[in-house]
Amino acid sequence: MEKSYILVLLLLVFQDTMFSLYAASPNETDIEALLSFKHLITNNTSFLSKNWTTNTSFCSWFGITCSPQNKRVMSLNLPNMNLEGKISPSIANFSFLTMLNLSNNIFSGNIPTEIGNLSQLVELDLSHNQLSGSIPPSFFSISSLRAVYLVNNSLSGSFLVDEVKGLLNLEVIDLSYNRIIGEIPSRLPLQNHIGGEIPQDLGNLSKLKMLGFDFNNLTGEIPESIFNISSLEYIAFTDNDLSGRIPTSLGLQLPNLKGIFLADNQLEGEIPMYITNAAKLIELELAYNFFTGTVPSNLGNLRQLEFLNLGGNQLTNEPGQRQLGFLNSLVDCRMLQFLILANNPLNGFLPDSISNLSSTIEMFNIENGQING
Ligand SMILES: *[C@@H]1O[C@H](CO)[C@@H](O)[C@H](O)[C@H]1NC(C)=O
Ligand SMILES: *[C@@H]1O[C@H](CO)[C@@H](O)[C@H](O)[C@H]1NC(C)=O
Ligand SMILES: *[C@@H]1O[C@H](CO)[C@@H](O)[C@H](O)[C@H]1NC(C)=O
Ligand SMILES: *[C@@H]1O[C@H](CO)[C@@H](O)[C@H](O)[C@H]1NC(C)=O
Ligand SMILES: *[C@@H]1O[C@H](CO)[C@@H](O)[C@H](O)[C@H]1NC(C)=O
Ligand SMILES: *[C@@H]1O[C@H](CO)[C@@H](O)[C@H](O)[C@H]1NC(C)=O
Ligand SMILES: *[C@@H]1O[C@H](CO)[C@@H](O)[C@H](O)[C@H]1NC(C)=O
Ligand SMILES: *[C@@H]1O[C@H](CO)[C@@H](O)[C@H](O)[C@H]1NC(C)=O
Ligand SMILES: *[C@@H]1O[C@H](CO)[C@@H](O)[C@H](O)[C@H]1NC(C)=O
Ligand SMILES: *[C@@H]1O[C@H](CO)[C@@H](O)[C@H](O)[C@H]1NC(C)=O
Ligand SMILES: *[C@@H]1O[C@H](CO)[C@@H](O)[C@H](O)[C@H]1NC(C)=O
Ligand SMILES: *[C@@H]1O[C@H](CO)[C@@H](O)[C@H](O)[C@H]1NC(C)=O
Repeated sequence: MEKSYILVLLLLVFQDTMFSLYAASPNETDIEALLSFKHLITNNTSFLSKNWTTNTSFCSWFGITCSPQNKRVMSLNLPNMNLEGKISPSIANFSFLTMLNLSNNIFSGNIPTEIGNLSQLVELDLSHNQLSGSIPPSFFSISSLRAVYLVNNSLSGSFLVDEVKGLLNLEVIDLSYNRIIGEIPSRLPLQNHIGGEIPQDLGNLSKLKMLGFDFNNLTGEIPESIFNISSLEYIAFTDNDLSGRIPTSLGLQLPNLKGIFLADNQLEGEIPMYITNAAKLIELELAYNFFTGTVPSNLGNLRQLEFLNLGGNQLTNEPGQRQLGFLNSLVDCRMLQFLILANNPLNGFLPDSISNLSSTIEMFNIENGQING
């Protein structure tokens, strides 16, 4: 009686073990890919070798999340670990990877071409490493990509908008603090498309929210098509070598725009009045360019505006007026915190309304503005 009870118990235990072994049955391809990945890491190896041991399922390894359905590697999340070395081409074998975050480590060398094999990838963050070379063209075939952060590496080579336009689900691309060169293809040659056929070009990125290229070496003009992506919230091209004018459609097609960062370029021409059509604008940063003409007198329409920097340009007051009238309009920006107009030949008097500027103002800088009285 007791014996058969124990036997049943043993059978149950055995069955249970069999079942859990089966359920956790590791995919050899994933293990091999992870071990190859680890093999190319040369710093903080002691942490990984203690944790990434083959006597436990890789699904319980530090930084790894497996898909509950097929127990395949779904995300590889190893930021801030001082990992040093190369990114292994073996990542190609993580066929179900949706998230790769290796940000803030010391990875160097190229981004492997094999990254293009990650056909399910949704988010990629390789920011704050020492990656060099150009972004492999294969990368631009991952149509599932929604967010790409490659901030603060040493990536170089030219950036071709043509490549990016295949990434139809893209919401964020941030390549700030690299050495990307090249000319963003300028205005579409409308005159060559008789019959009204206009290539959609960048406008195809209809989900794009963030286009980040601060601190690179881009030249040429900002293509008008960028300003035609109505989902855009942030356009950031601070400190490049961009020239030409702000495209004329700016503000017309950008109902969601919250930030424009174009400081430290060689942009010229006037600041278009209809910039204020971008009603959700919070930050407008156009300092240190060659903008001319008057400071728009309707900036007060930007009710959400918190940060306005037009310093270091050639902006003037309304001709024939003695008061700096545009300041009257800015009184309507009740959220304004930073107002910088320094180093412009403004040449005028401060109006009395200056005392009615937002109580949230933290900085008001108008030095070298040829202010009288
Ligand atoms: C492991 O993954 C590879 C590649 O996706 C696949 O070919 C193979 O059948 C998988 N093996 C198991 C045991 O699931
Ligand atoms: C890893 O790199 C960091 C930063 O360079 C360094 O401080 C640390 O000592 C290195 N760790 C090992 C185990 O080599
Ligand atoms: C797994 O193996 C490592 C050494 O390879 C050992 O330190 C660790 O205790 C083992 N863990 C388990 C759960 O057996
Ligand atoms: C590895 O790290 C994970 C997450 O911190 C932890 O749950 C797991 O127990 C660790 N495994 C080993 C063998 O140390
Ligand atoms: C190694 O990584 C672990 C896990 O993030 C971290 O706690 C540890 O500080 C890292 N060691 C070094 C030397 O960076
Ligand atoms: C992918 O896995 C297969 C089978 O394990 C292996 O032969 C191949 O070398 C791996 N590919 C890469 C790029 O590591
Ligand atoms: C990657 O990890 C860092 C550090 O935890 C985090 O700040 C960042 O948002 C993560 N990236 C993505 C795309 O989630
Ligand atoms: C990666 O993609 C290339 C081109 O599509 C293909 O030839 C190769 O077999 C793929 N490698 C893996 C490991 O899936
Ligand atoms: C870029 O990363 C380095 C470390 O690799 C760090 O010291 C530096 O502050 C970062 N720069 C920016 C702008 O984030
Ligand atoms: C852009 O969109 C148009 C119209 O929806 C489509 O015909 C074209 O193929 C798309 N281009 C790309 C590169 O996806
Ligand atoms: C990129 O720009 C930086 C600063 O703006 C400059 O020092 C550097 O020489 C430029 N590099 C190239 C390749 O143009
Ligand atoms: C902007 O988008 C509209 C509507 O989709 C389109 O008709 C127009 O040609 C586009 N303009 C540019 C410059 O891409």
